[in-house]
Amino acid sequence: MAKIVGGITTSHIPAIGNAIAKHKEQDPYWKPFFDGFPPVREWLNEVKPDVAVMIYNDHGLNFFLDKMPTFAIGAAEQFSNEDEGWGLPTLPPFKGDPKLSWHIIESLVENEFDITSCQEMKVDHAFVVPMQLLFAEKAGQTKTVPVCINTVQHPIPSPKRCYKLGQAIGRAVESYPEDIKVVVIGTGGLSHQLDGQRAGFINKKFDLMCMEKLVSDPESLTQMSARDLVREAGSQGAEFLMWLAMRGALTGRVTELRSNYHIPISNTAAGMMLLANAA
Ligand code: DHB
Ligand code: FE
Repeated sequence: MAKIVGGITTSHIPAIGNAIAKHKEQDPYWKPFFDGFPPVREWLNEVKPDVAVMIYNDHGLNFFLDKMPTFAIGAAEQFSNEDEGWGLPTLPPFKGDPKLSWHIIESLVENEFDITSCQEMKVDHAFVVPMQLLFAEKAGQTKTVPVCINTVQHPIPSPKRCYKLGQAIGRAVESYPEDIKVVVIGTGGLSHQLDGQRAGFINKKFDLMCMEKLVSDPESLTQMSARDLVREAGSQGAEFLMWLAMRGALTGRVTELRSNYHIPISNTAAGMMLLANAA
């Protein structure tokens, strides 16, 4: 049977992708951020997951405001990237795992999650940048199942719903009959707001509380409404929903192996966590 070996969360800011393209990892601005990642890549090299379930939010490349599914899953052989206007290099397509994707979609729909299934899906910076950060030169060879949660067009789903989605993904993966190892990755966050009167808003106290509770008591975070989350984390800080979905998928004994928190990267409080999931 398939096993979930762990979960990883990271911010997905486009500027990170540009810093990678320009080899700026050791620049004073970037070093405190990038220094968090070598131990995570080492862990991935040791554990060697066969598939990454990538939980992220599309920002307008694949879905725009005219058609916005709350939850969507990609089920294609490959997923292409495209220029979004951030100056990021367009990378070769990422590998899919349509068989696992369809297994998850079927299981979720059976469990009352109404999923938009996508046999074609473009993946934006929220998928691509974390793949580069975590898998480096192996990003293109790693099989993926993209899972999109809407955090762009209101109404957005509640923290509780996203946590439950993660739990349902966890059960789906662990009922997959093949002996594969799966890592679940949630991208986005932590607190940030890119537009409006509160542009530049960051809430360190709230972020650190979320990182702690994500390990010790994730259910307590599901008591927040989506509105509470936007108020506390900023309108784009709602991307924390992806972290909660990741955590929901970890069904076993969870231990924090690594974490990093750094302000600012671009307009964002950048956070990273690596959680192991033991049976
Ligand atoms: C930034 C953050 C994001 O989450 C994003 O999707 C785009 C840009 C930023 O801080 O620049
Ligand atoms: Fe984002």
